[in-house]
Amino acid sequence: MNHFINLKDIPVSDLRKILNDAKKRKNKRKKTNTLDIDKDRPLRGKLLIQIYEKQSSRTRLSFHIAIKQLGADSITVKANELHLGKGGESLADTAKIISTYGDGFLLRTDSDKKLEDFSKNLTIPIINLLSPSSHPCQVLSDVFTIEEIKMKPISKLNICWIGDCNNVLNSLIAASVKFKFNLNIGCPKNYSPPKLVLDWVKKNKRKINIFNDAKKAAKNSDVIFSDKVVSLNDKVNKLKKIKDFENYKINRNIMKVTKPGSIFLHCLPRGNEVSEEVFLGKKSRVWQQALNRVHVQKSILLYCFKKLR
Ligand code: CP
Ligand code: NVA
Repeated sequence: MNHFINLKDIPVSDLRKILNDAKKRKNKRKKTNTLDIDKDRPLRGKLLIQIYEKQSSRTRLSFHIAIKQLGADSITVKANELHLGKGGESLADTAKIISTYGDGFLLRTDSDKKLEDFSKNLTIPIINLLSPSSHPCQVLSDVFTIEEIKMKPISKLNICWIGDCNNVLNSLIAASVKFKFNLNIGCPKNYSPPKLVLDWVKKNKRKINIFNDAKKAAKNSDVIFSDKVVSLNDKVNKLKKIKDFENYKINRNIMKVTKPGSIFLHCLPRGNEVSEEVFLGKKSRVWQQALNRVHVQKSILLYCFKKLR
């Protein structure tokens, strides 16, 4: 079995296998209904247990569909209804129980340590559905969307992130190292990626380009990414942070300096970091991006069960 916790810990050959499998499976589903099961029913009889400690719309729904299309089933347990931590039940005991009843565990959590502790105590695979430090399912799926739209390997493209240096960006940075693509980041001075992340990039002999000017970061980009300025796990002065990012809003002037065929992506939910005109405009591919979560997550599940073709 394989866990799927952080892109930086997964060999690029495996990430590429996941993307190839997703492409093949997506192509085969042109005339099917949402819940039609793939012909090979690769996860028939399996039970996936999902827990969300934080809100989710897309991840929850796209995994529900992905699991059904593979012939498996899932149950979502409400985080506040678990015994975990209450009445003295330890994480190790909860992990043992989840491994006894389920075949796979999917967790969205506000604690990276909890993911790590579960991975050590489970005897079934775990998938990270978003943590304070990463969002690997989102970003691998976004690599798929970019290559699908641009019809070339992401290593040949200029990718730009304008906004907060958060969990999604950390995973995008990991992807830039694994898939070797050029990554520009536009953010205010005091909001650069953490030193630990930058040191890891350096250790892997890659470079990312940080600009404290949104237009400079966006220049000649093929893809512009943005995300909410205030994330679910942010315990900051929200009004101050939003003000600090005032000059980093994606609008038509930013999109003007990108390459002619450029696209705009956003994982959603959104705030004021992008204008309505860009978000709903011709360059935006956000709905295709959301749909592709289903296809890529199916192949992530198959990777976890070592069933990739
Ligand atoms: N993009 C994303 O993960 O959305 P949700 O928080 O709605 O799952
Ligand atoms: N950075 C955002 C992503 C939501 C999908 C958050 O963590 O809230």
